[in-house]
Amino acid sequence: MENKKNILILTGSPRKGGNSDMLADAFINGLETNGHTVVKFNAGKKKIAGCIACNKCFSKGNACIFNDDFNELAPLMENSDMIVLITPLYWFTFPAQIKAALDKIYSLLVGKREIKIKESMLIVCAETDDMTDFDGIVRSYELINRYMDWEDCGKLLIPEVSHIGDILKTDALQKAEELGKTIT
Ligand SMILES: Cc1cc2nc3c(=O)[nH]c(=O)nc-3n(C[C@H](O)[C@H](O)[C@H](O)COP(=O)(O)O)c2cc1C
Repeated sequence: MENKKNILILTGSPRKGGNSDMLADAFINGLETNGHTVVKFNAGKKKIAGCIACNKCFSKGNACIFNDDFNELAPLMENSDMIVLITPLYWFTFPAQIKAALDKIYSLLVGKREIKIKESMLIVCAETDDMTDFDGIVRSYELINRYMDWEDCGKLLIPEVSHIGDILKTDALQKAEELGKTIT
């Protein structure tokens, strides 16, 4: 049976063409073999300020009363079936830019909006060769899933990539593409 999904790829690196950006594109290539509708939103390049807990979400129409780029992201979050977080590891967790976007999911809860997302995935790359360095970001992701009632559909953790292009020296892009193909 046909089951095409709307999939939101939320990326976290400020580096265009960096390791996680290439992972995202490889993953999207895999996804597209199954004909899903994909939107890539690069939180790392957008201007999203941290949530200030003013609780005025949606009081003036937009998700956030500050007219930042989260207001482009909010409708994508409302209308996607799946969210895929693809990011570098910064200080053992999410970079501030993508964290600001995740924090503002709060606005959708305050605004009592329906969020269609039911499934999620996590793809992270980092310089470290110690896989336990990913524990913090993985645990945060799992707790977000539990709170939001999203089902984890897979994780891909790529160590030992630092400079732009390092990812090309690994088999991670093939792995990301294969992971994308698993979404049917
Ligand atoms: C501010 C900052 C913090 C970082 N923190 C970590 C870290 O905690 N652990 C780690 O292994 N790598 C860390 N890195 C390295 C990046 O995760 C790594 O270079 C990654 O490949 C960058 O991905 P990108 O090319 O998609 O930006 C950090 C890099 C920056 C710029």
